[in-house]
Amino acid sequence: MGSKRQTVVLFLAALTVVLSSPLINELQPGEEWPQRNSVRQPVADDQTEQTLTEDFSTDDPAPAAVVEDAIIVAKTIERDHEPKKIDYSGSQVWQVSTTKSGARQVIGRLRRRNLISTWGGNQSSVDILIKPNVVENITRVFKRESIDYNVVIEDLQKRINEENPPLDNDEIELQDRRGHRMTWKQYHRLEDIYGFMDYLAKTYPSIISVKSIGKSFEGRDLKILRISNGKSDNKAVFIDGGIHAREWISPATVTYFIYQFAEYFDVESDDIKGIDWYFMPVVNPDGYEYTHTVDRLWRKNRKPGYRACTGTDLNRNFGHHWGGKGASNSPCSEIYRGSNAFSEPETLALSEFIKSSAANFSAYVTYHSYGQYMLYPWGYDNAVPPDYKDLDNLGKKMAEAISKTGGSQYQVGSSSGLLYPAAGGSDDWAKSQGIKYSYTIELSDTGRYGFVLPTSFIVPVAKENLAGLRVLASQVIKE
Ligand SMILES: *[C@@H]1O[C@H](CO)[C@@H](O)[C@H](O)[C@H]1NC(C)=O
Ligand SMILES: *[C@@H]1O[C@H](CO)[C@@H](O)[C@H](O)[C@H]1NC(C)=O
Ligand SMILES: *[C@@H]1O[C@H](CO)[C@@H](O)[C@H](O)[C@H]1NC(C)=O
Ligand SMILES: [Zn+2]
Repeated sequence: MGSKRQTVVLFLAALTVVLSSPLINELQPGEEWPQRNSVRQPVADDQTEQTLTEDFSTDDPAPAAVVEDAIIVAKTIERDHEPKKIDYSGSQVWQVSTTKSGARQVIGRLRRRNLISTWGGNQSSVDILIKPNVVENITRVFKRESIDYNVVIEDLQKRINEENPPLDNDEIELQDRRGHRMTWKQYHRLEDIYGFMDYLAKTYPSIISVKSIGKSFEGRDLKILRISNGKSDNKAVFIDGGIHAREWISPATVTYFIYQFAEYFDVESDDIKGIDWYFMPVVNPDGYEYTHTVDRLWRKNRKPGYRACTGTDLNRNFGHHWGGKGASNSPCSEIYRGSNAFSEPETLALSEFIKSSAANFSAYVTYHSYGQYMLYPWGYDNAVPPDYKDLDNLGKKMAEAISKTGGSQYQVGSSSGLLYPAAGGSDDWAKSQGIKYSYTIELSDTGRYGFVLPTSFIVPVAKENLAGLRVLASQVIKE
């Protein structure tokens, strides 16, 4: 029968393609993830364990309202076995000027009473999320204190509803034929992201491998994908995304880099091919899933804290000057640092992996949103490392490449200098481990959509940042 013969011909053609495609430095089994043979290094900082009996009164006292909210959510789960999504109808986002003296204190008070939460901002302005029932009250307070503001988002739920529409039928058909479900037209669930990583490892076993370096608090895999031509003297670059659950553009961007390097490795530049790339696109899988199923604006991980307050800010939990400025000791705070450095399974697994890896990391880039900043250490205090000029120069070159490619303007500076101190970040810790080029990149936008960035931004943001990453690669290769 004709169709049978066709099938055989197609099969032979496919086989020829597979056999004739060059296997680039096929890795020997067991060689993929070389480990240091030396003993484990001690944790960088000698921090004494903090306990929950500590006094919360100095920072973010646990507001009764938060506790009650959380209890209500927990009850809903118990009753329905299906968590109810938090509805942000009527919630607004305002951009508030903080130039007037006392403005930050007013905002801090409102935040501690749990009437608002803070989003992005800079030294002269802050974006705040306001619950619907207090919009009028806060309008009155700001009028009285003559604090200037703009309403940026009138109804947050409306924006959330429009942010991540389902794929059309053509796209779904394509997905079925491709062998994975990942696109850059949607913010995907963890299953699709991990499915994509596994697919690449299966499809390109000579250059790509995937490894789970541990489990999240709720038992999800913490997956890293490595792309390498297998040469033993390569420099290595580590890239993470999704430390903060709600910053969806981050895993979308990091998976786009993976896609580019994996699918076009043969024709990539020598810089890209000469580096061992380690990608961890979702450092906080529990939080990420929670933003899809319950609370779009969840930031922390999902480890229970104190009473009904859940989650640690993983980007305050790393062990370089852990517990310093810009991190809270209250489990109810959005910037809760955790009970001690690396108290969370996610940060512990990541740090142990880097410490025990034989890879020679010369860059560490952590992707966040939003604000369009290229930030280098230190974050823990208003200080810079001795080689900060090198980081500043490279950061400016990366920002220039981004601007040339997609037009977005990124500001470059130290985290604490350009924004505010925030101790316990992954970038500070990476730098403390001797990884020279350590950056936090705050992706788009500058506040119009904030965390709720429509899917139409994914490809442009990822593409311009890929141009930035290429500049970093060329510097790493040169060193
Ligand atoms: C801070 O953000 C506001 C609002 O986006 C902007 O108008 C202002 O220029 C920014 N200031 C600095 C110093 O970047
Ligand atoms: C709003 O303001 C009124 C009057 O100042 C006050 O009684 C009420 O408790 C406020 N509501 C909230 C939720 O703070
Ligand atoms: C790692 O790279 C640095 C330069 O960034 C180089 O000086 C050093 O020798 C390398 N170490 C190893 C073990 O290859
Ligand atoms: Zn972040």
